[in-house]
Amino acid sequence: MNKNKNSVKIRTAIPEDLPQILKCSKTSDRFVVSEYSNGFDEDDIRFWITDSRAIVIVATIDTKIIGFAYGVIVSPKWFFFDAFLIIPEFQNIGVGGKMYKYLRDICKEKGIKLIQGLVKNSKNSALGFWIKQGYTKGSDLIWVEDRLDKNKCNN
Ligand SMILES: CC(C)(COP(=O)(O)OP(=O)(O)OC[C@H]1O[C@@H](n2cnc3c(N)ncnc32)[C@H](O)[C@@H]1OP(=O)(O)O)[C@@H](O)C(=O)NCCC(=O)NCCS
Repeated sequence: MNKNKNSVKIRTAIPEDLPQILKCSKTSDRFVVSEYSNGFDEDDIRFWITDSRAIVIVATIDTKIIGFAYGVIVSPKWFFFDAFLIIPEFQNIGVGGKMYKYLRDICKEKGIKLIQGLVKNSKNSALGFWIKQGYTKGSDLIWVEDRLDKNKCNN
């Protein structure tokens, strides 16, 4: 497989992408934000792909999905990204930057004025990536949640 960002295509996700998106998401611990929350499942991804307020895009080489991004249009001028990931084998060759440009262009076309997201504060934080994309750092935040079924995750 050609590991060159020029052979990577970015497009809007379709329901058939669901299993590969889920597989990609398991390559990172970035979505594990508490003992109650270890990421998302098939139902979540299916909902996003079919939700008119969501934007879900994938980065592909041939038929292989090597990254994806998801976020939601919170209001006409405000987009919030919730997931943004390139699988480890394809990181650091410019695919994340290419995928972000595509996402930004979609947002611009829709008249969105502000894109925001949360970056996990960890040793290998992706903050530097976002700064490279032109982002500025906002407030430090603490994740709070009320898990209604009180089920903890096993991780
Ligand atoms: C963060 C992530 C999306 C970056 O994707 P990528 O394809 O590796 O990034 P690119 O190769 O397009 O890098 C673009 C630029 O950002 C820089 N960069 C990438 N990751 C970085 C990081 N973690 N810290 C600092 N700079 C980083 C690159 O050096 C590059 O700089 P350059 O333009 O000067 O060469 C990817 O590493 C990833 O999916 N990580 C795991 C999940 C994650 O943390 N997602 C973000 C959730 S908020």
